[in-house]
Amino acid sequence: MLPFTGAAGLALGSLSAQATQLALHTATLTAKTASSNPTLWYLTRAAAVATYVTLTLTVGLGLLRSMARVEQRTNALYLWFLDETHQFIALLTAAFLSLHLLTLLFDPFLPYSLLNELLPLNEPYRALPSALGVLALYAMVIVLFSSWLRRRLPYKLWRALHYVSFVVFILVTAHGLLIGSDTGQAWMNAIYFGAIAFIGALTVMRAFLSPKPVVTPARR
Ligand code: HEM
Repeated sequence: MLPFTGAAGLALGSLSAQATQLALHTATLTAKTASSNPTLWYLTRAAAVATYVTLTLTVGLGLLRSMARVEQRTNALYLWFLDETHQFIALLTAAFLSLHLLTLLFDPFLPYSLLNELLPLNEPYRALPSALGVLALYAMVIVLFSSWLRRRLPYKLWRALHYVSFVVFILVTAHGLLIGSDTGQAWMNAIYFGAIAFIGALTVMRAFLSPKPVVTPARR
């Protein structure tokens, strides 16, 4: 004999149907809330803009530091300030970049996997601009890693690798302009235009001054 028959069976059946419906409704609501919660998306964009600004400052400070050689500035405090801020802001750039990639990874709005962030293949959104971001990431790792190993590398090799920072700047500018939701907004255009003008002007000045590298015996 079945444990529940008649009215009791019907009541139990309806109860379980309602419970299934409720569970489905809750699951749908959770999924919707997760995918429509814009917090991570705003964080991804804010971190991206912060990365771009600090990257620009890092490259700019590096250019100023190299020009300080020809200006014959003996002011040790000025050189110390440039060195410290250049290194600190470079680390800040790495931290903001990690946040940009981490928030993108957990944001259900766009299905980026770790592989999508590390390999420029099968990107789920705007393939070419995404691939430019991945290439910029590689270039940035080269610059940061070689700077970390600076004392162990021959000076000329370190310097050649440090020039890759120009490649990073160009790749990131193209990546941001082509993929960013904020491209076209007046404030973001001002950031891109300001950054390009700032780095462009300093690069021209540096090329014009053409400072000779200071190769001390310890740096050979
Ligand atoms: C050096 C590395 C990177 C830097 C400095 C960087 C910087 C930027 C910048 C400046 C923006 C524009 C933000 C805006 O308009 O609000 C952006 C957007 C974006 N980036 Fe990156 N990015 C890098 C690497 C990557 C990588 C590896 C990926 C994934 C493959 C990626 C995916 C995205 C996506 C999906 C957006 C669009 C966000 C939006 O709608 O604004 N980025 N990034």
